[in-house]
Amino acid sequence: MSEKKYISFGLEKLVNRREKEIALNQHAIAIWFYGLSGSGKSTLAVRLEKALYDKNFKVQILDGDIVREGINKGLSFSDEDRMENIRRVSEVNRLFIDCGIITINSFVSPTIQMRQAAKEIIGEDNFIEIFINSPIEVCEARDPKGLYKLARLGIIKSFTGIDDPFEVSESSDLVVDTTFSIDDSVNQILTFLLPKIELK
Ligand code: ADX
Repeated sequence: MSEKKYISFGLEKLVNRREKEIALNQHAIAIWFYGLSGSGKSTLAVRLEKALYDKNFKVQILDGDIVREGINKGLSFSDEDRMENIRRVSEVNRLFIDCGIITINSFVSPTIQMRQAAKEIIGEDNFIEIFINSPIEVCEARDPKGLYKLARLGIIKSFTGIDDPFEVSESSDLVVDTTFSIDDSVNQILTFLLPKIELK
């Protein structure tokens, strides 16, 4: 953990996570949405952020499409680069959590191994995995960015769910069925989340 790192450099932190959490009146955790492209992760992330903001929680969204234009610019969709994408954002999560900030992550993170890596970096106690469960047929019919069409035409290769694997975890903390309305999904997540982020 970072405090141990400071000590290993001969420094002692004078303000720790707990003090920052008290100042913000919240317990920081990383909420990790995973699911297929077009499953509704990003939509739910912004709606959840707003619902939490309205309840006075301080939240940062980390979204695959967005970080891949910034800190993770240049990473491809090979297994190796997807893992690097997840590794870097997991380290970013740790920084936010050390600041007492709640994060909402929206990443396809298609394999159990990738999500496990995120959990290990962020810390099991800080990590809530939520599967945004939309069947591939539904995602493909929605095709909000036109990417499934391109994947079917072979113009985009290694597209998750088409010609690249997508593994479902047996042990997600929560499964959100996006055939329900967005409001219902946000409420389902809030009911699960609130006891975990209220400061005790
Ligand atoms: S991850 O696999 O490394 O976790 P990430 O969540 O960052 O993926 O990015 C996924 C987004 O990139 C998708 O929502 C989609 O818009 C876009 N994308 C482009 N190419 C691919 C691909 N080959 N597989 C999956 N998503 C892709």
